[in-house]
Parts: sequence; C-alpha cells; structure tokens
Amino acid sequence: MKIKPIIAGNWKMHKTLTDGISFVGKIRNRILDKEKVKVIFCPPFNSLFSIVDALDGTSFGVGAQNAHHESQGAFTGEISVEMLKSMRVQYVIIGHSERRHIFGETDGWINQKIHAVLNGELTPIFCIGETLEDRQMNRTNEILHHQIKLGLEGVETIDSEKLIIAYEPVWAIGTGETASNDQVEEAHGYVKTILDDMFGHNSGEIPILYGGSVNENNAAELIQTEGVDGFLIGGASLKEDSFCSIIAQVTNYNKG
Ligand code: PGA
Repeated sequence: MKIKPIIAGNWKMHKTLTDGISFVGKIRNRILDKEKVKVIFCPPFNSLFSIVDALDGTSFGVGAQNAHHESQGAFTGEISVEMLKSMRVQYVIIGHSERRHIFGETDGWINQKIHAVLNGELTPIFCIGETLEDRQMNRTNEILHHQIKLGLEGVETIDSEKLIIAYEPVWAIGTGETASNDQVEEAHGYVKTILDDMFGHNSGEIPILYGGSVNENNAAELIQTEGVDGFLIGGASLKEDSFCSIIAQVTNYNKG
C-alpha cells in the first residue's frame, strides 16, 4: 500500500454532543501512533463544531455526513459546504447509500454536491456500491461504472489528495455481512481502472476505502486485500474498543 491508510468513522445519527466529545477524547488519548493512519470522525452536524475544537492541534480529521450543493438559500434542514468550512470541517461524505436509498439522492444531485465540495476545497468521501439485487444479476461493475461516471461528471482533473472513494456494497452495510476478499479486490480493481481512465496517472493516489460491516475481527484481513486503502466504518466506529482495535490493526499492517 503506497497511500497512508484512512479510517473514517461514520457515526450516522448516533451520539449526543456530550457523548461525542467524550468519545473523541478517549480515542485521542488511546491512539498514540498517529503517523501511520489518518483517522477521520464523521459525527452528526450538531457536534461538528465542538469536535473540531476538541481535536484542534491533532492529526485527526473531521468530516460531515452530507452537504447541500448551494451555498445558501431556502433549503430547510440543509447545510452548505461554506457553513461546514466555517466550522473547519475538512471532509464530507457524499452519496452514502442511506442518502441514496432512504432520502432519494440521485446521481445527478450527488454530482452537484461533489462539485460544491471540491469548489469549497473540502474533500469528498464519495460513496458507491451495488445492491444485493445488482450483484445477483451480475451488474456490479455496471453500477459502479455508472455511479462513478455520473458522480464525477464534469470533474476534469483531480488532486488525488482531494478525493476519497468509498466502495460500500449496500448489502454489507450494517448487516454483519462483509464482502469476501475476492469481491473487494475485484471491485476496488475495477474502480481503479475507471479512475485511471478518467484521470490518468494521477488517479493512482486516490484512496479507495472499503465499507460494510468492517469490525475488529475482519479488519486485519480486509486491510491486506489488494486495492484497499482504508475503511469507512459505521457500527464499529461507535465503540471505543472496536474502533481502537481496528486502528491498531491497520497501523500494524502499515508498519510492514
Ligand atoms: P457499517 O456501516 O460499518 O455499520 O456496515 C458502514 C457505512 O454505512 O458507512
């Protein structure tokens, strides 16, 4: 692995402000070897400001779970990239499968959000992934191709430090079912060929994370899978021991 591994914890709609601050404080004290892995916390909007503050001066990153593509306006319940930026948030998860499937986000909308995040000079963590039905119908590659092409449409060049891809098979998210190493390797390899095709040699450094029921028991094996540059973690990122164990395992692997 050439790239420094990234471990992003997607808290979804979990943890109050107090719980969140106490949690990052504990992780901060437990993770001593911060050089080998980039750890990013993605709390709900309400905690972003305080968590950025709590992690000030550390190498931990903070990301939001969504953003609207407009900079301001009559969009009740939404938040803009500019607003996130003013809280010193560095990353934004875009196109998570829960946003796509529960809230009806389309590829076109996701594309507008990606542009807004890139224009705001934050880093999108752009999520893609097939449903179980897609996989059973042998449509995984077609879906990944479609989502990447549409999501990144109009992005001509990319600084590889300004984009993170997260491959998250929908059927593996929150289900306890993880994709097999072969499935992960194949999907990551395919994503990489699409990125190479779109961005040429520069794409080699764009990190491709795996997400979907990553936990302390499968992290070591998954991080050694060809093409995996880190993880986007939901459930296991909420628990101190699990999250620290995953970070430690990825740190150990990266020492080799
Ligand atoms: P999970 O969620 O780790 O709980 O499967 C991953 C995600 O939704 O990003």
